[in-house]
Amino acid sequence: MSKTFYIETFGCQMNAHDSEKVIGTLEHEGYAQVQDEAEAGLILYNTCSIRDKAEQKVFHRLNEYKKMQGEGKRFAVIGCVAQQEGEKIFEKAPYVSIVSGSASYRNLPEMLARLEAGETRITGLDDRQTNETFETEFTSRTNPHRGYITIIEGCDKFCAYCVVPYTRGKERSRTADSVLAEARRIADSGYTEIQLLGQNVNSYADPSGKKSFAELLEAVGTVPGIRRVRFTTSHPRHFTRDIVEVLDAVPTLCDHVHLPVQSGSSDVLKAMAREYTRDWYLERIAWIKAAKREISMTSDIIVGFPGETEEDFEQTATLLGEVGYDAIYAFKYSPRPNTPAITMADSIYEELKIDRLKRLNDIQRDLQRISYERHLGQTMEVMVEGHNRQRGQVIGRSSQNKTVNFTTTQPILPAPGSYVNVRITQTFPNSLVGEAA
Ligand code: 5AD
Ligand code: SF4
Repeated sequence: MSKTFYIETFGCQMNAHDSEKVIGTLEHEGYAQVQDEAEAGLILYNTCSIRDKAEQKVFHRLNEYKKMQGEGKRFAVIGCVAQQEGEKIFEKAPYVSIVSGSASYRNLPEMLARLEAGETRITGLDDRQTNETFETEFTSRTNPHRGYITIIEGCDKFCAYCVVPYTRGKERSRTADSVLAEARRIADSGYTEIQLLGQNVNSYADPSGKKSFAELLEAVGTVPGIRRVRFTTSHPRHFTRDIVEVLDAVPTLCDHVHLPVQSGSSDVLKAMAREYTRDWYLERIAWIKAAKREISMTSDIIVGFPGETEEDFEQTATLLGEVGYDAIYAFKYSPRPNTPAITMADSIYEELKIDRLKRLNDIQRDLQRISYERHLGQTMEVMVEGHNRQRGQVIGRSSQNKTVNFTTTQPILPAPGSYVNVRITQTFPNSLVGEAA
């Protein structure tokens, strides 16, 4: 087997960042990344199983790998589908040599050595109870502007619909010192933006007991050279007031909180085992709204959870107006293996789920069309991410995480990664347009 690899990644930012760490580890083990799978000795597939569609993609793709098996290539299926399906993957796709969940990535060097020694059915599936996190100095950062740092892995919440506690194992946090050392390394290598990651980023519990989540935010936000700090995803259950206070106190912390509500109905929230009510959630929102600077809020929502009545759905719809989110990510409930919700009565039929999803997204679009108008005439700092040469526009992002497309009269376009003050001249439901100020 040639020591070249090709990696494909699906799923959330945690997965994307895991791949950065996997790539760094492989490179350290003497493997070279190639951009064309035809040239690769080893093909890795980092998978997602959050919803049915994501998972079906995996099996479709594995069938395509089958055609390549004659070329002497080896295949590794990693990530959430790997953890969920385990050795069944070898039955379905015997040409696969490694099946590993994210809790076992620490053991990748050993798994690679076994692969090179000719072993075929190598698994990393038994580490979900580990206290260890996957830390490596060899992260190969593929996002040129944003340095990701995992501060907590796994999830102990067991929401009734969710695979994550089963695929990513129990919650385990990194020490604040190790997070800060990584933040400094990232800053030293030229990054100005850091995103702290965790399935429940704000249930962070420093194993050394030195820092709370809010204190860690402050410490990362004051690392020299860092201009923007984001964090995702927060769980309402652990959303404490000191988070808002630190957002107010430390200007480098971005004015955006992603706080998934999942449903606006307390009955559905109970059935989902979210451990909060609508009012309890709205109290956290009130804290955020009372901050000294405007903090943008976004959310994830599931429609069509088993037993969701029309009244329940209406409560989710009215919540959108009450909170005033700047974006929502709404999904049809998708039954997932091993989760308690899969056996719940009163499942909602597909057409109704589709209808509710559409209604919700329509309501949100109308709300955003109006609410984004508040930015008209404002000047905001935008980090440049790229250029749209056809339109003669620069593409960037505001601290609130909004897409801002702008023009400039300068002969040379500002470089990706640079910061430009932009005056907003036009607004859309999902983006802003402006001119360099
Ligand atoms: N069906 C639909 N959406 C889901 N999510 C998680 N599990 C499911 C599921 N079984 C959504 C939640 C979560 C987001 C990442 O994905 O809204 O916040
Ligand atoms: Fe998908 Fe969840 Fe796994 Fe992320 S943690 S890749 S969203 S299943």
